[in-house]
Amino acid sequence: MSYYFSEKDSSAIVNARMGDDINPRLKQVMESLVRHLHDFIKDVQLTQEEWEVAIEFLTKTGQMCDDERQEFVMLSDTLGVSMLVDTINNRRPAGATENTVLGPFHVAGAPELPMGSNISLDGVGESCLFEGCVLDLEGNPVAGARIDVWSDNADGFYDVQQPGIQPKWNNRGIFTTGADGKYCFVGIKPVAYPIPTDGPVGKMLLEMGRHPFRPAHMHVLVTAPGFQKVVTHTFSGDDDYLTSDAVFGVKQTLVAPYERVEKGETVWRSPFDFVLTPVGDKAVSASEAEAQMAGV
Ligand code: BEZ
Ligand code: FE
Repeated sequence: MSYYFSEKDSSAIVNARMGDDINPRLKQVMESLVRHLHDFIKDVQLTQEEWEVAIEFLTKTGQMCDDERQEFVMLSDTLGVSMLVDTINNRRPAGATENTVLGPFHVAGAPELPMGSNISLDGVGESCLFEGCVLDLEGNPVAGARIDVWSDNADGFYDVQQPGIQPKWNNRGIFTTGADGKYCFVGIKPVAYPIPTDGPVGKMLLEMGRHPFRPAHMHVLVTAPGFQKVVTHTFSGDDDYLTSDAVFGVKQTLVAPYERVEKGETVWRSPFDFVLTPVGDKAVSASEAEAQMAGV
């Protein structure tokens, strides 16, 4: 192979420049990145004009980022990259609650509330009782589990998107389980909402013929001593966007029932149990499991 550039050996020529004495993981990641990037450019025969559009798109994406807005994370979300990284890094045994994207609207330090509290501070929306248990893989209740929940309001906005319009901490709260592992709180039945579309990612979705909507969901972050952190949502099974989530966050096991109850002010009930995996328990990937079964 020549040291000089050629179309045929392009990625090997670039990778051969890497020092011998560098972090081995960095070497592995960069070699693969360069190889796939060059293969992609060859595959689509990228034109000069398309390359310029890509550079302008990435520049605008970076310029849109600040402490409140992370357009690069949204690019990763909408291309399914966030979900793939999350899924690879959170393989769990059958029966355990699966992870999904954290999203940009989690705020640390939400109020710690007594079980049964109502987190809908503006009182707008269809009232819903969320209840269930936090369990271990054997079905035993987990005491001392912290359940941090947040959802949008009836208009599809999180409180942090509407300061001065919604009360601070609207539709947010933290609940801690007792010895029975049970939790319950009142909120509203969440509604579907679009991710922000006023930046380059919104334009990209439009040009790709994709909508920006996320199906209605309640965000839940469960932590308990000795167990893996679960970052997840429960989704409303009746949502039109369930099979076309803009960020690919829906997993079959996270679709929760919403039953009409009409008890006093409460219109809905959504039961859901969270099943935690002990720290250190590593589930194998689908391909590893197949290889093990085939005796490879
Ligand atoms: C969310 O569910 O809050 C969310 C996730 C990814 C991108 C935008 C919003
Ligand atoms: Fe959300």
